[in-house]
Amino acid sequence: MGPSSGSCSCSSMMKMVMMFVLFGMESMRGLLGGNMSEEFEITWGSGRGKLLNNGQLLTLTLDHFSGSGFRSRKEYHFGKIDIQLKVVPGNSAGTVTAYYLSSEGAGHDEIDYEFLGNLTGQPYTVHTNVYTGGKGEREQQFHLWFDPSTDFHTYSILWNPHTIIFSIDGIPIREYKNREARGIPFPKKQAMKLYSSIWNADQWATQGGRIKTDWSQAPFTASYRNFRAEACVRVGGRGRSSCSPRIYSSLITKGLHGASQNRLRWVRNKCMIYNYSVAFAAGNFYQNFDLTWGILNNDQLLTLSLDKASGSGFQSKNEYLFRKIDMQLRLVPGNSAGTVTAYYLSPQGAAHDEIDFEFLGNVTGEPYTLHTTVFNQGKVAGSNSSVSGSTQLLISTPILSCGTPRKSCKQSILPNQN
Ligand SMILES: *[C@@H]1O[C@H](CO)[C@@H](O)[C@H](O)[C@H]1NC(C)=O
Ligand SMILES: *[C@@H]1O[C@H](CO)[C@@H](O)[C@H](O)[C@H]1NC(C)=O
Ligand SMILES: *[C@@H]1O[C@H](CO)[C@@H](O)[C@H](O)[C@H]1NC(C)=O
Ligand SMILES: *[C@@H]1O[C@H](CO)[C@@H](O)[C@H](O)[C@H]1NC(C)=O
Ligand SMILES: *[C@@H]1O[C@H](CO)[C@@H](O)[C@H](O)[C@H]1NC(C)=O
Repeated sequence: MGPSSGSCSCSSMMKMVMMFVLFGMESMRGLLGGNMSEEFEITWGSGRGKLLNNGQLLTLTLDHFSGSGFRSRKEYHFGKIDIQLKVVPGNSAGTVTAYYLSSEGAGHDEIDYEFLGNLTGQPYTVHTNVYTGGKGEREQQFHLWFDPSTDFHTYSILWNPHTIIFSIDGIPIREYKNREARGIPFPKKQAMKLYSSIWNADQWATQGGRIKTDWSQAPFTASYRNFRAEACVRVGGRGRSSCSPRIYSSLITKGLHGASQNRLRWVRNKCMIYNYSVAFAAGNFYQNFDLTWGILNNDQLLTLSLDKASGSGFQSKNEYLFRKIDMQLRLVPGNSAGTVTAYYLSPQGAAHDEIDFEFLGNVTGEPYTLHTTVFNQGKVAGSNSSVSGSTQLLISTPILSCGTPRKSCKQSILPNQN
């Protein structure tokens, strides 16, 4: 039943197992946690979250009426957090199981794993993100080299002032380094609790929202065990946190080098399906767009024009996935009757998705009509027309952009440790 397109045959499986055992023993020495009845509280779901076996097993379920969730009682300020998780088996399409560290309030920090379900036999997508001061948009997505729904696997977050490392079964899948020196924010000022929840997100989660939750399969269950937090824990109300010097120094020194770098590279090359990008310069149209037909541009201003012989157009160089896109636009002035200016997001291909603005011109003094449409697989999913009273549409700059989806996690061999 495994997701064949997501599996890899790993000749060095033995080495992976060895590494995991050593890791586990090391964590035991500075063990904080273990008994989930003491460490966690079920926060919502009216009985759909359960602590079982004397706190050694926790399950969260989702049915047609509600999902469920838990959170840690403690707040951590740097640490290495491990949990074993088995996600919803079988047809999990439409479900999302999130497992993350988060501070509270506005301007929150967050370090995220999200498991997006799929049809039986199709790979889960693991979505990761890092928020600082309420701002995220640092998404990376992966397909895994195993089926995460048939067994427990260890999902870890190492968080210290220098780096954040996401790893699965001891294999790093993502490192988010502190690059504050280059003006990129890094979460380090706020303590965070650990949270997990399962909910229905069939509007967007699976294959872009095309596959809906099959409620005849409910309840959907995710299971957790072997929680370990080797961490600095917040004490009192004054933002102080404490941990032994030994724990602190072990957190600081566990960076990625040699062998683990190779593994990270392997995961990136074979399993990463999406990476965000912040490569944009506000208003630099040369960098961000290709003129597809028609004429002229400069760095700061792009104009399209239409005459009797031809119209014109441009398209972005990058492809985007989930993003807020802003553009300032001034429409054709004066008598624009008969002209249409379209501004839209669309992938290539026939049965495509599309999110549309269309501005229908008018004679001088009469209002433009703004028409919006959302297409799902070539079909109209929603459409509206509203008459706007102005010939100017002002939205704020700059234009953000994301990376391009990569090849998926293919049959391949995990590199050796050396
Ligand atoms: C875990 O904690 C709960 C509540 O304190 C207790 O009843 C249970 O026996 C503990 N389990 C183990 C395995 O120690
Ligand atoms: C589900 O499977 C499809 C087809 O293999 C894949 O493209 C997609 O990334 C998978 N994950 C989700 C959440 O849709
Ligand atoms: C992902 O994108 C970010 C932002 O553009 C970049 O800094 C980072 O190196 C990329 N990571 C990978 C693994 O490609
Ligand atoms: C143009 O103006 C007329 C009269 O106000 C209005 O009914 C119409 O919706 C406007 N837009 C277009 C595209 O015709
Ligand atoms: C826009 O169109 C949708 C779908 O056709 C409709 O449900 C919605 O009520 C419309 N909104 C407005 C403001 O007309």
